[in-house]
Amino acid sequence: MSAVRLARGYTGRDVIIKFDGCYHGHADTLLVAAGSGVATLGIPGSPGVPDSVISNTLSLKFNNSEEFTKVMKKIGDKVACVILEPVAGNMGFVPPVSGFLQTLREVSSRYGAILIFDEVMTGFRVSKGSAQELYGITPDLTCFGKVIGGGLPVGAYGGKKEIMDHIAPVGKVYQAGTLSGNPLAMAAGISTLTELQKKGVYETLDAKTEKLMTGFQSAADEAGISLKTGHAGSMAGFFFSGEKIHNFDDAKKCNLEQFAKFYRLMLAKGVYLAPSQFEACFVSLAHSDEDIDQTILAAKEAMAEL
Ligand SMILES: Cc1ncc(COP(=O)(O)O)c(C=O)c1O
Repeated sequence: MSAVRLARGYTGRDVIIKFDGCYHGHADTLLVAAGSGVATLGIPGSPGVPDSVISNTLSLKFNNSEEFTKVMKKIGDKVACVILEPVAGNMGFVPPVSGFLQTLREVSSRYGAILIFDEVMTGFRVSKGSAQELYGITPDLTCFGKVIGGGLPVGAYGGKKEIMDHIAPVGKVYQAGTLSGNPLAMAAGISTLTELQKKGVYETLDAKTEKLMTGFQSAADEAGISLKTGHAGSMAGFFFSGEKIHNFDDAKKCNLEQFAKFYRLMLAKGVYLAPSQFEACFVSLAHSDEDIDQTILAAKEAMAEL
Protein backbone atom coordinates (compact mmCIF):
# COMPACT_ATOMS: atom_id res chain seq x y z
CA MET A 1 0.00 0.00 0.00
CA SER A 2 2.75 2.44 0.96
CA ALA A 3 5.02 1.42 -1.92
CA VAL A 4 2.18 2.02 -4.39
CA ARG A 5 1.44 5.40 -2.83
CA LEU A 6 5.11 6.31 -3.13
CA ALA A 7 5.22 5.21 -6.77
CA ARG A 8 2.15 7.33 -7.50
CA GLY A 9 3.53 10.31 -5.60
CA TYR A 10 6.91 10.03 -7.30
CA THR A 11 5.60 9.67 -10.86
CA GLY A 12 2.52 11.87 -10.50
CA ARG A 13 0.59 9.11 -12.30
CA ASP A 14 -2.39 7.02 -11.17
CA VAL A 15 -2.48 3.68 -12.99
CA ILE A 16 -1.28 0.50 -11.27
CA ILE A 17 -0.55 -2.67 -13.22
CA LYS A 18 -0.71 -5.94 -11.30
CA PHE A 19 -1.07 -9.55 -12.39
CA ASP A 20 -3.96 -12.02 -11.99
CA GLY A 21 -3.41 -14.34 -9.05
CA CYS A 22 -0.81 -12.13 -7.36
CA TYR A 23 -1.79 -11.03 -3.87
CA HIS A 24 -0.34 -7.89 -2.35
CA GLY A 25 -2.24 -7.62 0.91
CA HIS A 26 -5.77 -6.47 1.58
CA ALA A 27 -5.35 -2.81 0.55
CA ASP A 28 -8.38 -1.69 -1.48
CA THR A 29 -6.54 -0.73 -4.66
CA LEU A 30 -4.84 -4.11 -4.93
CA LEU A 31 -7.84 -6.37 -4.34
CA VAL A 32 -8.37 -7.05 -8.04
CA ALA A 33 -8.05 -10.64 -9.33
CA ALA A 34 -6.03 -11.36 -6.19
CA GLY A 35 -5.01 -14.92 -5.39
CA SER A 36 -4.67 -16.44 -1.92
CA GLY A 37 -7.80 -16.42 0.27
CA VAL A 38 -9.99 -14.54 -2.21
CA ALA A 39 -9.14 -17.15 -4.86
CA THR A 40 -9.74 -20.05 -2.48
CA LEU A 41 -13.18 -18.67 -1.65
CA GLY A 42 -13.87 -17.94 -5.34
CA ILE A 43 -14.45 -14.23 -4.68
CA PRO A 44 -13.48 -11.92 -7.59
CA GLY A 45 -12.68 -8.97 -5.33
CA SER A 46 -14.38 -7.83 -2.16
CA PRO A 47 -17.56 -6.03 -1.19
CA GLY A 48 -16.59 -2.74 0.41
CA VAL A 49 -14.14 -1.86 -2.33
CA PRO A 50 -15.79 0.86 -4.46
CA ASP A 51 -15.31 0.68 -8.24
CA SER A 52 -13.87 4.20 -8.15
CA VAL A 53 -11.01 3.00 -5.93
CA ILE A 54 -9.97 0.24 -8.33
CA SER A 55 -10.70 2.09 -11.56
CA ASN A 56 -6.96 2.74 -11.99
CA THR A 57 -5.90 -0.83 -11.24
CA LEU A 58 -5.27 -3.05 -14.23
CA SER A 59 -4.70 -6.77 -13.77
CA LEU A 60 -2.86 -8.61 -16.58
CA LYS A 61 -1.86 -12.22 -17.16
CA PHE A 62 1.20 -13.39 -15.23
CA ASN A 63 4.02 -14.62 -17.46
CA ASN A 64 2.57 -12.96 -20.56
CA SER A 65 5.24 -10.53 -21.80
CA GLU A 66 3.37 -9.84 -25.03
CA GLU A 67 0.18 -8.64 -23.36
CA PHE A 68 2.16 -6.48 -20.94
CA THR A 69 4.21 -4.85 -23.72
CA LYS A 70 1.07 -4.18 -25.76
CA VAL A 71 -0.72 -2.51 -22.83
CA MET A 72 2.34 -0.42 -21.99
CA LYS A 73 2.56 0.74 -25.61
CA LYS A 74 -0.97 2.09 -25.25
CA ILE A 75 -0.93 3.60 -21.74
CA GLY A 76 2.69 3.38 -20.51
CA ASP A 77 2.90 7.13 -19.88
CA LYS A 78 -0.01 6.89 -17.39
CA VAL A 79 1.39 3.94 -15.43
CA ALA A 80 2.77 4.77 -11.97
CA CYS A 81 3.90 1.26 -11.15
CA VAL A 82 4.03 -2.36 -12.15
CA ILE A 83 3.78 -4.62 -9.11
CA LEU A 84 4.16 -8.38 -8.95
CA GLU A 85 5.31 -11.35 -6.93
CA PRO A 86 8.49 -12.22 -8.90
CA VAL A 87 7.80 -15.85 -8.04
CA ALA A 88 4.07 -16.09 -7.47
CA GLY A 89 2.98 -17.90 -4.33
CA ASN A 90 -0.62 -16.84 -3.94
CA MET A 91 -1.99 -18.85 -6.87
CA GLY A 92 0.13 -21.81 -5.85
CA PHE A 93 3.84 -21.83 -6.69
CA VAL A 94 4.32 -20.28 -10.15
CA PRO A 95 7.84 -19.20 -11.14
CA PRO A 96 8.44 -16.59 -13.87
CA VAL A 97 9.04 -18.00 -17.36
CA SER A 98 12.33 -17.12 -18.99
CA GLY A 99 12.36 -13.48 -20.14
CA PHE A 100 9.21 -12.33 -18.29
CA LEU A 101 10.97 -10.38 -15.52
CA GLN A 102 13.48 -8.97 -18.04
CA THR A 103 10.63 -7.67 -20.19
CA LEU A 104 8.91 -6.07 -17.18
CA ARG A 105 12.20 -4.40 -16.23
CA GLU A 106 12.99 -3.11 -19.73
CA VAL A 107 9.52 -1.93 -20.66
CA SER A 108 8.78 -0.30 -17.26
CA SER A 109 12.00 1.70 -17.52
CA ARG A 110 11.19 2.70 -21.09
CA TYR A 111 7.94 4.35 -19.96
CA GLY A 112 9.18 5.69 -16.60
CA ALA A 113 6.94 3.33 -14.57
CA ILE A 114 8.21 2.10 -11.19
CA LEU A 115 8.82 -1.66 -11.05
CA ILE A 116 7.88 -3.03 -7.62
CA PHE A 117 8.85 -6.54 -6.59
CA ASP A 118 6.58 -7.75 -3.81
CA GLU A 119 9.05 -10.04 -2.07
CA VAL A 120 6.90 -10.47 1.04
CA MET A 121 6.88 -14.20 0.35
CA THR A 122 10.05 -14.68 -1.72
CA GLY A 123 12.24 -12.39 0.39
CA PHE A 124 15.18 -14.20 2.05
CA ARG A 125 13.46 -17.43 1.04
CA VAL A 126 14.14 -18.24 -2.63
CA SER A 127 17.75 -17.17 -2.02
CA LYS A 128 19.70 -15.04 0.43
CA GLY A 129 19.31 -12.05 -1.89
CA SER A 130 15.65 -12.90 -2.63
CA ALA A 131 14.14 -13.27 -6.13
CA GLN A 132 15.93 -10.20 -7.46
CA GLU A 133 19.26 -11.90 -6.84
CA LEU A 134 18.08 -15.30 -8.06
CA TYR A 135 16.86 -13.89 -11.39
CA GLY A 136 19.35 -10.99 -11.67
CA ILE A 137 16.74 -8.24 -12.02
CA THR A 138 16.86 -5.03 -9.96
CA PRO A 139 13.44 -3.53 -9.27
CA ASP A 140 12.96 0.14 -8.35
CA LEU A 141 11.16 -0.71 -5.09
CA THR A 142 10.93 -3.90 -3.05
CA CYS A 143 8.40 -4.93 -0.40
CA PHE A 144 9.27 -7.35 2.37
CA GLY A 145 7.34 -9.07 5.15
CA LYS A 146 7.08 -12.53 6.72
CA VAL A 147 10.73 -13.73 6.97
CA ILE A 148 12.11 -10.29 7.87
CA GLY A 149 9.85 -10.30 10.93
CA GLY A 150 11.01 -13.68 12.19
CA GLY A 151 7.39 -14.62 12.84
CA LEU A 152 6.42 -11.24 14.25
CA PRO A 153 4.37 -8.71 12.24
CA VAL A 154 6.71 -6.62 10.10
CA GLY A 155 6.33 -5.01 6.70
CA ALA A 156 9.00 -2.96 4.97
CA TYR A 157 9.71 -1.42 1.62
CA GLY A 158 12.77 0.18 0.15
CA GLY A 159 14.51 1.04 -3.07
CA LYS A 160 16.39 3.68 -4.96
CA LYS A 161 17.33 6.75 -2.88
CA GLU A 162 15.96 9.12 -5.47
CA ILE A 163 12.52 7.53 -5.07
CA MET A 164 12.67 6.94 -1.30
CA ASP A 165 13.54 10.62 -0.73
CA HIS A 166 9.96 11.42 -1.69
CA ILE A 167 8.76 9.91 1.61
CA ALA A 168 7.92 12.37 4.41
CA PRO A 169 9.52 14.08 6.21
CA VAL A 170 12.25 14.40 3.52
CA GLY A 171 9.63 14.38 0.77
CA LYS A 172 5.90 14.93 0.56
CA VAL A 173 4.47 11.39 0.34
CA TYR A 174 2.95 10.65 3.75
CA GLN A 175 3.47 7.45 5.71
CA ALA A 176 2.94 6.62 9.37
CA GLY A 177 2.09 3.76 11.73
CA THR A 178 1.72 3.36 15.49
CA LEU A 179 3.83 0.20 15.48
CA SER A 180 6.34 1.22 12.81
CA GLY A 181 9.79 0.07 13.86
CA ASN A 182 8.34 -1.83 16.83
CA PRO A 183 11.38 -2.90 18.91
CA LEU A 184 10.16 -6.44 19.62
CA ALA A 185 9.43 -7.14 15.95
CA MET A 186 12.74 -5.57 14.89
CA ALA A 187 14.64 -7.76 17.37
CA ALA A 188 12.92 -10.90 16.06
CA GLY A 189 13.68 -9.88 12.49
CA ILE A 190 17.34 -9.15 13.17
CA SER A 191 17.72 -12.51 14.95
CA THR A 192 16.19 -14.36 12.00
CA LEU A 193 18.33 -12.56 9.44
CA THR A 194 21.42 -13.22 11.58
CA GLU A 195 20.65 -16.96 11.57
CA LEU A 196 20.24 -16.82 7.80
CA GLN A 197 23.75 -15.34 7.40
CA LYS A 198 25.28 -18.59 8.69
CA LYS A 199 27.26 -20.66 6.22
CA GLY A 200 25.39 -23.35 4.32
CA VAL A 201 21.90 -22.33 5.46
CA TYR A 202 20.50 -21.77 1.97
CA GLU A 203 22.18 -24.90 0.58
CA THR A 204 20.58 -26.94 3.38
CA LEU A 205 17.14 -25.39 2.76
CA ASP A 206 17.44 -25.96 -0.98
CA ALA A 207 18.45 -29.61 -0.56
CA LYS A 208 15.58 -30.32 1.87
CA THR A 209 13.03 -28.68 -0.41
CA GLU A 210 14.33 -30.51 -3.48
CA LYS A 211 14.08 -33.80 -1.58
CA LEU A 212 10.52 -33.04 -0.45
CA MET A 213 9.27 -32.10 -3.91
CA THR A 214 11.04 -35.04 -5.59
CA GLY A 215 9.36 -37.25 -2.98
CA PHE A 216 5.91 -35.82 -3.74
CA GLN A 217 6.52 -36.21 -7.48
CA SER A 218 7.53 -39.85 -7.26
CA ALA A 219 4.66 -40.58 -4.84
CA ALA A 220 2.23 -39.23 -7.46
CA ASP A 221 4.01 -40.94 -10.37
CA GLU A 222 3.89 -44.31 -8.60
CA ALA A 223 0.15 -43.87 -7.97
CA GLY A 224 -0.51 -42.73 -11.57
CA ILE A 225 -1.70 -39.29 -10.46
CA SER A 226 -0.93 -36.19 -12.54
CA LEU A 227 1.11 -33.79 -10.43
CA LYS A 228 3.45 -30.92 -11.26
CA THR A 229 5.94 -29.96 -8.57
CA GLY A 230 8.50 -27.19 -8.39
CA HIS A 231 10.57 -25.07 -6.03
CA ALA A 232 12.83 -22.04 -5.82
CA GLY A 233 15.03 -22.26 -2.75
CA SER A 234 12.76 -23.15 0.16
CA MET A 235 9.56 -22.01 -1.56
CA ALA A 236 7.75 -24.90 -3.20
CA GLY A 237 4.47 -26.05 -4.61
CA PHE A 238 2.54 -28.78 -6.35
CA PHE A 239 -0.43 -28.71 -8.69
CA PHE A 240 -2.78 -31.59 -9.42
CA SER A 241 -2.42 -31.19 -13.17
CA GLY A 242 -0.75 -32.87 -16.12
CA GLU A 243 0.09 -29.47 -17.65
CA LYS A 244 2.70 -26.92 -16.61
CA ILE A 245 1.16 -23.99 -14.73
CA HIS A 246 2.19 -20.53 -15.91
CA ASN A 247 -0.63 -18.27 -14.70
CA PHE A 248 -3.83 -18.01 -12.66
CA ASP A 249 -6.07 -19.38 -15.45
CA ASP A 250 -3.90 -22.51 -15.62
CA ALA A 251 -3.95 -22.84 -11.83
CA LYS A 252 -7.74 -22.64 -11.69
CA LYS A 253 -7.98 -25.56 -14.14
CA CYS A 254 -6.19 -27.93 -11.74
CA ASN A 255 -8.01 -30.76 -10.05
CA LEU A 256 -9.08 -28.85 -6.93
CA GLU A 257 -11.14 -31.75 -5.62
CA GLN A 258 -8.10 -34.01 -5.72
CA PHE A 259 -6.12 -31.37 -3.84
CA ALA A 260 -8.81 -31.17 -1.15
CA LYS A 261 -8.83 -34.96 -0.71
CA PHE A 262 -5.02 -35.10 -0.60
CA TYR A 263 -4.96 -32.27 1.93
CA ARG A 264 -7.37 -34.08 4.25
CA LEU A 265 -5.52 -37.41 3.90
CA MET A 266 -2.24 -35.69 4.78
CA LEU A 267 -3.82 -33.92 7.75
CA ALA A 268 -5.10 -37.26 9.05
CA LYS A 269 -1.52 -38.55 8.84
CA GLY A 270 -0.27 -35.61 10.90
CA VAL A 271 1.02 -33.39 8.06
CA TYR A 272 -0.50 -29.94 7.99
CA LEU A 273 -0.08 -28.50 4.49
CA ALA A 274 -1.23 -25.05 3.34
CA PRO A 275 -5.02 -25.54 3.04
CA SER A 276 -5.47 -24.43 -0.57
CA GLN A 277 -4.25 -25.30 -4.06
CA PHE A 278 -3.64 -21.55 -4.36
CA GLU A 279 -0.94 -21.36 -1.69
CA ALA A 280 2.76 -22.21 -1.71
CA CYS A 281 4.68 -24.42 0.74
CA PHE A 282 7.74 -23.35 2.68
CA VAL A 283 10.50 -25.49 4.13
CA SER A 284 12.09 -24.20 7.31
CA LEU A 285 15.40 -24.92 9.02
CA ALA A 286 13.24 -26.27 11.84
CA HIS A 287 12.16 -29.16 9.57
CA SER A 288 14.45 -32.09 10.37
CA ASP A 289 15.47 -34.76 7.85
CA GLU A 290 13.10 -37.09 9.71
CA ASP A 291 10.25 -34.59 9.22
CA ILE A 292 10.92 -34.53 5.49
CA ASP A 293 11.10 -38.35 5.31
CA GLN A 294 7.90 -38.69 7.31
CA THR A 295 6.12 -36.19 5.04
CA ILE A 296 7.21 -38.04 1.90
CA LEU A 297 6.04 -41.33 3.39
CA ALA A 298 2.66 -39.76 4.22
CA ALA A 299 2.44 -38.41 0.65
CA LYS A 300 3.13 -41.88 -0.76
CA GLU A 301 0.32 -43.38 1.34
CA ALA A 302 -2.04 -40.50 0.56
CA MET A 303 -1.40 -40.66 -3.20
CA ALA A 304 -1.97 -44.43 -3.15
CA GLU A 305 -5.29 -43.89 -1.29
CA LEU A 306 -6.31 -41.19 -3.79
C1 LIG B 1 3.23 -11.63 -1.68
C2 LIG B 1 2.45 -11.02 -0.55
N1 LIG B 1 2.37 -9.70 -0.46
C3 LIG B 1 1.69 -9.10 0.55
C4 LIG B 1 1.07 -9.85 1.50
C5 LIG B 1 0.30 -9.14 2.59
O1 LIG B 1 0.86 -9.27 3.79
P1 LIG B 1 -0.02 -8.83 5.08
O2 LIG B 1 -1.19 -9.74 5.11
O3 LIG B 1 0.94 -9.02 6.19
O4 LIG B 1 -0.39 -7.42 4.85
C6 LIG B 1 1.11 -11.23 1.45
C7 LIG B 1 0.41 -12.05 2.47
O5 LIG B 1 0.19 -13.20 2.35
C8 LIG B 1 1.83 -11.84 0.40
O6 LIG B 1 1.91 -13.17 0.30
